This record gives sequence, C-alpha cells and structure tokens, in this order.
Amino acid sequence: MKYIFANWKMYITAEESRKLAHEVATCSFDPQALSLAIFPSMIVLSEIERLFEGSGVAVGAQNVAWSHQGAYTGAVSAFLCKEAGCRYALVGHSERRYIFGENHEDVRKKIEACFDVGLTPVLCIGETKEDMEEKKREYRLKKQLMSALEGLSVPKSGFIVAYEPVWAIAQSGIGTPCTPAEAESVHQWIKAELAQYTTDAVPVLYGGSVDTNNVVSYLTRSTIDGVLVGSASTRAESFLPLLKAATALQINS
Ligand code: 13P
Repeated sequence: MKYIFANWKMYITAEESRKLAHEVATCSFDPQALSLAIFPSMIVLSEIERLFEGSGVAVGAQNVAWSHQGAYTGAVSAFLCKEAGCRYALVGHSERRYIFGENHEDVRKKIEACFDVGLTPVLCIGETKEDMEEKKREYRLKKQLMSALEGLSVPKSGFIVAYEPVWAIAQSGIGTPCTPAEAESVHQWIKAELAQYTTDAVPVLYGGSVDTNNVVSYLTRSTIDGVLVGSASTRAESFLPLLKAATALQINS
C-alpha cells in the first residue's frame, strides 16, 4: 500500500477546491493499493467529503485543536473534524510549528485529541535549513518524535509519520526536494527510531516539493510509504498526472 496525501494548505479558493475535488473524484485507482486523501481548507471540508462519497478518496484536516470543547475562538476540535467526515488530521506541520508557534506539548496533545475521537494523526516532523547547517538533523527529528510520542496518554498505535524537511517545502510553489536516496535513508532512520515507541509498522511519508516528475522516484523506494504533496496537489494540471503516474506504478507492480 502506498499513500498519496494532498495538503491544499491555503493555496486555493473554495470554488477551485470544489472543482479540483470533482476532477480527483473521477480518477480511477485501486483503493487496496493506493490510499488517497485530500486535506482541503476547513471551510469546504464537509462539502468535499460528501463529494468524495463512494470514490474511495478520504479527507483529512490540516490542523486540529488540542481541546475538545470550550471558549477557544477560531479553533476547530478533532471531534468537529471527525463529525465533518475526516479520517485523518495533520499534526505538527512545520508551518504550524514555525509560523503559528505550536510547541512540542501542543503537538502531543493534538495527537491525543485525534486518538480520542478516532482520527488518524499524521505526525509531521522535519529539520530546518539551520539544523542541516549545524548537522542537527537527527537531533531535531529525535526530539520531535520523542516529545510527541513518549508521554502520550493513549496507546501508540494507528498513526502515520510524515517526514517533511522544512528546507525542501516549496515556497510560493517553488522548492528544492530532498533527493529520493537521501529521503530513503532518513526514512530508514525514522523507522528504527519509531521501533522504540511502538510495535506497529508505522507508515512514513515523504513531503517537500513532490511533483508529477519526481513522484515515482519516491514511491519506488521501499522505506518511503507514500508522499504528502503540497503545491503540486492544488492544480489539476499537476495533480492529475501525478495521480496517474502513481496509479500506473501500482498496476505495474
Ligand atoms: P510542497 O509540496 O508544496 O513542498 O509542500 C509540502 C508540504 O508541506 C505538505 O504538507
């Protein structure tokens, strides 16, 4: 099973989201071989979930609150996301950590909130350019994994990890990806680390400037269980060929 997760971030309008979702819903793929999920804006989440009914495409939330209920202006709980039909939620995305100031404890509590309501958390981890320059990649990833997983008050099972090097994430649609060979070796390291926390086989996805041209080179690596695509997933002309390439790979394998 390979995963194609599409994080639409805040790139497109509600109308563009509906239109793109319609096109994605008509793509044929084998849900036994490919797990496809879209993470749209909250504003169209339930609408898009209904639109995908019967298509095998799941939806996820780009973020959840760590609390279930209360006076938290602007926040959306994991429960509300579940009610809206989400199967997944991104937790600890670098844009949440570095732009919105979420800390390790927030991330851990969000994972707990997801588990509480039956959402599968997708824990995003990744080192910055500065970490790389200071040769602190493993230190950063270890810290993010440990702080998210060690003190969990719930069983550590049924989650996904997304390795997204911050330096590889596209800005305004342009980015420099981590090479598939490098990503593969980091994934191997992450999987070995994860063995300390869970006996589950945790899927580890790669994210950072994945596009139509390079998606196959990631998906053919054995330690890369799938991809989390940002900007290339927000336009039909790049996302539909990307899906087609991934589907062809499944058929041929
Ligand atoms: P890009 O594919 O735009 O680099 O974004 C990756 C990402 O952050 C997905 O969550």
